[in-house]
Amino acid sequence: MSERQQTAYPTAQTSPDAFGLGRTSGQRGAEILAGLRAELLPSPESLALARFGGRAIARLAMAMEKNPAALNFVVGRLNGITELVRRALSPNASKLLLMDIAAGFSPRGIQLAQSIPTAQVVEVDLPDVVRDKEARLRRARNLQVPTNLSWRSADLAVTALAQVVEKESADVISAEGLNAYLAPEDITRTATRILECLKPGGTYISDIPWAEGMDYAQQATRFFSRQAGVYKGVIDSAEAMRDLMLTAGYKTVIIHKPSEVAAELKLPTPILDFSFFVVAQR
Ligand SMILES: C[S@@+](CC[C@H](N)C(=O)[O-])C[C@H]1O[C@@H](n2cnc3c(N)ncnc32)[C@H](O)[C@@H]1O
Repeated sequence: MSERQQTAYPTAQTSPDAFGLGRTSGQRGAEILAGLRAELLPSPESLALARFGGRAIARLAMAMEKNPAALNFVVGRLNGITELVRRALSPNASKLLLMDIAAGFSPRGIQLAQSIPTAQVVEVDLPDVVRDKEARLRRARNLQVPTNLSWRSADLAVTALAQVVEKESADVISAEGLNAYLAPEDITRTATRILECLKPGGTYISDIPWAEGMDYAQQATRFFSRQAGVYKGVIDSAEAMRDLMLTAGYKTVIIHKPSEVAAELKLPTPILDFSFFVVAQR
């Protein structure tokens, strides 16, 4: 293993925490997203997963944002990626394994575990995040944690996913908001490591900030980035992202615009295409 691979990724290292949201920029990003979801989509799951501090910062970010379409994106990305996970599942598969990596305080894992009781759902994130997430869900009085939902903690820059999941193979692996933190060569490296954990024909679903879309979101994005860590992975075109995933070894790569998926799902619109959704099949 190279020296670079043994060092915690910047998002996993302790850094100044001005608002008391968490030791790492990774956790702070996840707390703000959880706060936004609790404000915008107050389901029992998203309310249980958000902390007071995350909601307060989310409200501040919402007040700064003049364009409501910027906020629709938060709802569109969560539901859009979950829908793409559902579409990737083979209707005949009997022993499904779904993984959400860099899961943060997203309700995707518990929602998938509740709605597909025959699937095993595994969420992976940094140790602090996994510990806090499990505690919040177990503490929530109005929620039952499904027995088919479990957690693993790891710094995925240090530990290969295959090691984390002990060579189990997944039908679908999703990662929302992870590529933004990774330089292009790390996006490819991470995608290759994920591919090793997929069953043949399995699917990796992620998102990647799109340079053109990000231009719309200057204020809120800058604020988010100051708390959650600088965006390194911003792509100029769908073709460039497709190339990264083909280089990682995937056979087919389909790129979706969030606005199109949101329109199909009749989610609140307009949705600005800050990022692309990427569906890559082994
Ligand atoms: C922007 S947040 C997104 C969280 C979640 N997917 C969501 O949509 O709310 C990025 C997540 O990546 C996790 N993360 C960052 N670096 C990581 C690493 N090296 N290993 C594992 N998880 C990491 C953070 O802890 C955080 O939960």
